Amino acid sequence: MCGIVGYIGKRDSQQILIDGLKKLEYRGYDSAGIAVFTDKGLEVRKSKGRLAALEEKLVGDELRGSVGIGHTRWATHGKPSDENSHPHTDNSFKFSVVHNGIIENYLDLKDELIAKGHHFLSETDTEVISHLVAEEYDGDIVKAVQRAVKRMRGAFALGVLTEFEPDRLVAVRYASPLVIGIGEGENFIGSDIPAILEHTRNVYILDDGEMAILTNNNVELRSIKGEVISKEIFHVDWDLTTAEKAGFDHFMLKEIYEQPKAYRDTMMGRISADGRSVELKEIGMTPEQIRGIRNVHIVACGTAYHAGMVGKSLIESLARIPVEIDVASEYRYRSPIITPETLVIVVSQSGETADTLAALREAKRCGARVLAITNVVGSSVSREANDVIITQAGPEIAVASTKAYTSQLIAFMLYGLFLADTLGTRDKDWIADVLVAMQKLPEQVESILERAQVLKQVAESLAKHDNLFFIGRGIDFAVAQEGSLKLKEISYIHSEAYPAGELKHGTLALIEEGIPVIALITQEDLYEKTLSNIKEVKARGAHVLGLVNEGTEVEVGKSIDELFAIPRTLPLLSPALSVVPLQLLAYYASLARGNDVDKPRNLAKSVTVE
Ligand code: F6R
Repeated sequence: MCGIVGYIGKRDSQQILIDGLKKLEYRGYDSAGIAVFTDKGLEVRKSKGRLAALEEKLVGDELRGSVGIGHTRWATHGKPSDENSHPHTDNSFKFSVVHNGIIENYLDLKDELIAKGHHFLSETDTEVISHLVAEEYDGDIVKAVQRAVKRMRGAFALGVLTEFEPDRLVAVRYASPLVIGIGEGENFIGSDIPAILEHTRNVYILDDGEMAILTNNNVELRSIKGEVISKEIFHVDWDLTTAEKAGFDHFMLKEIYEQPKAYRDTMMGRISADGRSVELKEIGMTPEQIRGIRNVHIVACGTAYHAGMVGKSLIESLARIPVEIDVASEYRYRSPIITPETLVIVVSQSGETADTLAALREAKRCGARVLAITNVVGSSVSREANDVIITQAGPEIAVASTKAYTSQLIAFMLYGLFLADTLGTRDKDWIADVLVAMQKLPEQVESILERAQVLKQVAESLAKHDNLFFIGRGIDFAVAQEGSLKLKEISYIHSEAYPAGELKHGTLALIEEGIPVIALITQEDLYEKTLSNIKEVKARGAHVLGLVNEGTEVEVGKSIDELFAIPRTLPLLSPALSVVPLQLLAYYASLARGNDVDKPRNLAKSVTVE
């Protein structure tokens, strides 16, 4: 996720661009840049770091001009650095592009452009676009952009300028958001409405496959194929604070709703064109080295640890390699047996968690190869690991992790299948079927989100309790742990998660009349066993809410008080669905208790102390 802005009019554009980027910093903040037509031509300033670093750079070196584009970056390809910051230009410096999204086929395009004599200054996918537009240009920037876009696969929102036509700003939307602001004698582009709301309340919200050609006094809308289109102007009647959260009351809720996109983005470019295998070009291990892995250690903290629990299950069942899992703060101190045949997987949203980083260093010191699953390109963990899988969840602002966790699950699913394919532990047809099921997950999450109001009502009654339990077996237990943590950290309700069969060994003593028990029952081979554990708690007065698979409501419904059905998927993929209702329960319970959902007490987003 990145943020883009653009301005064309009569005012000085620099401050307008910077102010717009400030509103978009929540979309990414590892680097920023602007390009403006000045009396010297198309000039670019960019800088690694927060927007403030760019502002500092511009002091005494202002870009004076009334047409420009700007970008705030969340690195996906290439580390945060001045070179990788946007806007990107071609070799003639006549074309400049800002981009939000991912170009899946950028490596193929890059090779082709290099063969034609282009040379590249960055590691980004975006730089390919500026070169491609330059290559396609024959006097009409709109046609050049249309031809370039035709060649690109992936997701993109673009702002494009060329020195040859300084009175036009071209914008394109394809699977990444973009709005056009309509002013008087001036027009704007932005990744979202807040970026331009200060200047106008009249906007066009572009749909996928649409482009806009902006001049001072006009906005022309076309399809990317070139057909002229007309659209209603949308009048914005809400304020800035609401707008930054895209209309959601909290960042956490917004991030829960961003999960379908995060799933798609994390899978994007990692499934082969024939849908039969996982392509992880970022993994530098040869098949020979992979065959040499004797055991895997997964190390992480908190929610990332819970993703690791699911990862353990996936890797063991798919690749048949033994996996141990540790909380990072414990790992080093238990003298784990790490050998050069051990693969250590560290999982961290931020990539900066001190304990996880220390575990990574310990693993490397002992000669293990380290794979990092992280959400932040250029983070310490991503820099120090041997291999890195970047989850494409985009920046996560709420302290309680949601979309980063589920993207970690997707990363583990992809990695498990990748190992299974390489080691031959599963056949190709089976892998292809799993990949089909995985690609259905985003819309299945959408169908859960559509029923959020049901969970809101359940959460409001849960919020009246001070204690509750989560139970599940197998992979359901791993998800139960995450559901319990989510509830604790934002609602402050005490809860514990147990393997369903374990209660009778002690904890059952705590079950009393009316206590809520949330039971996960998604693993068909364990139905009967889990149902008998549910009967044990019901017999002691517990009020049981079951998370069940669609189609099993009648059968399971007899043994529980309330149920919420999740769409059918393969048992090993179910965590990516079953956790979503639990996130919503935690959110609404926190809300019902009047807590600060996005900033729970005593907690911080990134824990950089041991
Ligand atoms: C809980 C949560 C934390 C983090 C943990 C590790 O919602 O977000 O438990 O998962 O602090 O953080 P990262 O993933 O950044 O290493």
